[in-house]
Amino acid sequence: MEPIRAINREVGSGREIASIEIPRIGLGVWMMNGPNECKNAVIDAISIGYRMIDTARSYGNEEEVGEAIRESGIDRSEITVVTKLRRMHAISYESTIEHCKISLEKLAMDQIDLYLVHAPPEDAGAREPVWRAMEDLLEAGLVRTIGVSNYGVHHLRDLESYAKIMPCVNQVELNPWIQRPELHSVTREMGAITMAYSPLARGQKANDPEISEISNKIGCTGAQAAIRWCLDQGAVVIPKSSDPSRQRENLDSMGVNIDPIRNEIDNLDSNHVSGWDPTVEP
Ligand SMILES: NC(=O)c1ccc[n+]([C@@H]2O[C@H](COP(=O)([O-])OP(=O)(O)OC[C@H]3O[C@@H](n4cnc5c(N)ncnc54)[C@H](OP(=O)(O)O)[C@@H]3O)[C@@H](O)[C@H]2O)c1
Repeated sequence: MEPIRAINREVGSGREIASIEIPRIGLGVWMMNGPNECKNAVIDAISIGYRMIDTARSYGNEEEVGEAIRESGIDRSEITVVTKLRRMHAISYESTIEHCKISLEKLAMDQIDLYLVHAPPEDAGAREPVWRAMEDLLEAGLVRTIGVSNYGVHHLRDLESYAKIMPCVNQVELNPWIQRPELHSVTREMGAITMAYSPLARGQKANDPEISEISNKIGCTGAQAAIRWCLDQGAVVIPKSSDPSRQRENLDSMGVNIDPIRNEIDNLDSNHVSGWDPTVEP
């Protein structure tokens, strides 16, 4: 599957301000806590063809991601690096600028390809200055594109009222068990791509008997059917695995055709939140 172009557009005119090519599947690196677990997982993933890594300040492994990319033998320019402004740092304009620079230092990189506000700032009064700082980071070239994560429909509409530049991505939990049709379609209307996190519901559904029974009919695994379902929604997907064979299994979802079982997968929606859900916060 071809990468998707994620575009930051000017509010009002729709003029393109910045863009990047994003591979359809990336490696999520949350909860890689063992010694060098993240570094080894990123090196393994790159060696089998992953070209996007999703990290965050709060995951505590930006350094390992940077080291792994440098040691991978693949040119930095071929890998899309996503990281996020931690919620506790999303409190002001100054804090946003400062913590982006710290992430760059930890990654030991000149530029972040996609920088996300990890979740709507808890202090609603900080949302506008935080986003203004994101826009300025883009203009200054410290980041190539900017986006948000865990923004609900009302957060996106509110953002449109104060933004000069719209986000190119909204990263949210999306999988067959939490399908969010309204949020996904509003995200698209606003010109952003949905990036589907926890496609296996944090692993809670990775070996779920119901999806395994359905996916057996077409000879793929439940994990592959779930990831393919997300891809078919038009989302970019970031499954986490520290295991090279499961990383490959997940990447191979791109070659699976779930048409014969699509209706059954569509019917799995149960609004299952696997962890947190800031999209519903005020
Ligand atoms: N923006 C946010 O607020 C937010 C929130 C959550 C996650 N994320 C991002 O999204 C990424 C993915 O989400 P996630 O880590 O929550 O969970 P996930 O990708 O839904 O599931 C990961 C879990 O499933 C297991 N697994 C992976 N592939 C498998 C397979 N083919 N068969 C069986 N088990 C499999 C993994 O174990 P092994 O490692 O042992 O394979 C791990 O325990 C994160 O790493 C992070 O980058 C973002």
